Amino acid sequence: MPQTHPHPDVERVLLDEQQIRERITEIGEQIAADYADEPPILVGVLKGAVMVMADLARSIDLKVEMDWMAVSSYGSGTKSSGVVRILKDLSADISGRNVLVVEDIIDSGLTLKWLLSNLRSRGPKSVEICTLLRKPEAARVEIDVKYIGFEIPNEFVIGYGLDYSEDYRNLPYVGVLKRSVYEV
Ligand code: XMP
Ligand code: MG
Repeated sequence: MPQTHPHPDVERVLLDEQQIRERITEIGEQIAADYADEPPILVGVLKGAVMVMADLARSIDLKVEMDWMAVSSYGSGTKSSGVVRILKDLSADISGRNVLVVEDIIDSGLTLKWLLSNLRSRGPKSVEICTLLRKPEAARVEIDVKYIGFEIPNEFVIGYGLDYSEDYRNLPYVGVLKRSVYEV
């Protein structure tokens, strides 16, 4: 059953299930067209990108491989620092391949900037990025993002894979978290 009432910690629903589904379907079709000759390996960034990956991969009508990385950017609460550590590396060798990084959200872009240079050092044929959400801060870092689901305001969001203290990832929509939840 779809959840009709937002979670009590949600200030407002930013993107509902249908909006997300429709946009991901569009992006999947675009990716299938762009990579028709040489399908990409999708690299999901754990844990936030699991829902995007699951829905995006199913909307790409090509033979695509899925792999995962887990990184931790040192930082506390709701801000990231750009100092990154690999918690889980890829299983696949990406040299000579088209890599498409699948992200939930780009905020400062610091995590992604580090990840891109790490992936590029492995000799892939290409590296592109697909993110469901992008916040305004991200525009200040020079990262070319090929596929963007939605530009969102600078508020802390949860759901559809995004968490606050590991909670709310399984909400089927993207919502703005009430400030009272993280501001004491
Ligand atoms: P940077 O700033 O390096 O951070 O682009 C990207 C990572 O920070 C987390 N992040 C969020 N997580 N709601 C979340 O649940 C948000 O609004 C949010 N903003 C940033 C997230 O882990 C992302 O990969
Ligand atoms: Mg993330």
